[in-house]
Amino acid sequence: MEQEIKKGLAGVVVDTTAISKVNPETNSLLYRGYPVQELAETQPFEAVAYLLWHGELPTSDDLEHLRRTEREHRALADSVRAAIDLLPHDAHPMDEVRTAVSALGAIDLAGSGSVLDATGSAEENLARSVRLFAALPAIVAYGQRRRRGEELVEPRDDLDYAANFLWMTFGEDPDEIVIDAFNRSMVLYAEHSFNASTFTARVITSTLSDLYSAVVGAIGALKGPLHGGANEAVMHVFDEIGSAERVVPWLDAALAEKRKIMGFGHRVYKNGDSRVPTMRAALDALVAHYDRRDLADLSDALEREFMERKGIHPNLDYPSGPAYHLIGFDTPMFTPLFIASRVTGWTAHVMEQAASNALIRPLSAYDGPDERHVADLTP
Ligand code: SDX
Repeated sequence: MEQEIKKGLAGVVVDTTAISKVNPETNSLLYRGYPVQELAETQPFEAVAYLLWHGELPTSDDLEHLRRTEREHRALADSVRAAIDLLPHDAHPMDEVRTAVSALGAIDLAGSGSVLDATGSAEENLARSVRLFAALPAIVAYGQRRRRGEELVEPRDDLDYAANFLWMTFGEDPDEIVIDAFNRSMVLYAEHSFNASTFTARVITSTLSDLYSAVVGAIGALKGPLHGGANEAVMHVFDEIGSAERVVPWLDAALAEKRKIMGFGHRVYKNGDSRVPTMRAALDALVAHYDRRDLADLSDALEREFMERKGIHPNLDYPSGPAYHLIGFDTPMFTPLFIASRVTGWTAHVMEQAASNALIRPLSAYDGPDERHVADLTP
């Protein structure tokens, strides 16, 4: 019986999730029932991480406990630093972070007798999730400083997550406007139902493999320019165009070459990405703070022109790329920033998949040669 093939699983519902609801009809995104805009404008990223893992926003005691634990695991472990230092200085930061997380997992799981022991209980996986959440800023920050030939910056206990992330990256007291914009981006990137990297993490978890392996696989999926790699690619597009005046000729050529314009389009949202207005507000604040109207003019001109011609809306990567550029992150660091945020969503999905697991193993329709035999080969 001929079965309909759904390439890319487009439009296919493969399981339930209680973690987030992506609603293209109403152009909305809920994390455990809360509109993401509200969370991005009112909550520290630590509270949203807690919400994704536990299903409820933290009490002040819960938040204080999470912050205490996060501070205990902020510093870059010597063994993880050594793993990164083994890599060439021009290794891509996505490969550095993927290697560092793999090393973290190998170290944490060392001595666990069998692969079954590595699977981890719900409590063990929650603890692993918090440790990864805490460790990633130092790993990402070190990646940028190592490439720039700058010394490692130690974490500060007097700073919350977003401010400390900026401190470890730039080694100077971050400005409140920058902290707020960065915190918003972390909240907005945290979770988005069964996107390619999250579904990768769920597939790996479904075999009873460990949480670290699931996150390493998810990082591999996120690296692709059709997914997380787009925020880095957006800045390469802006660098190519140069100024607002050169948008039209650039777009003429790009569309003639049938190029995908990075930062635009989405598999689920067809009338605009619900996260864009909140991230755009953060970008506008940064444009004013750094007096970079030229970058905003270029971004607005490309969006206007592309919308007029193809009616394709920008996604979250479109405003977040220039925002990270203005804050001072090197372009190759943009997708590792996405990892530091999405690790909260990935690990929430790992724990949800593990709680009511079913091995993920779809079917395929064979379109290769009919059965044949070696003996039938003519010499
Ligand atoms: C993220 O899934 C998630 O939730 C992901 C994410 C998350 O939070 O996890 O939201 C994060 O990955 C955002 C997407 C980042 N990627 C990019 O910005 C890369 C550029 N975007 C495209 O590659 C594309 O829009 C996708 C891959 C994101 C979505 O593609 P779809 O849904 O498979 O749509 P499609 O490729 O079938 O496009 C339909 C039509 C095609 O034209 P035709 O071949 O029918 O003539 O629209 C065109 C496409 O060529 N199109 C684009 C385009 N996006 C779609 N044309 C040019 N540039 C684009 N960006």
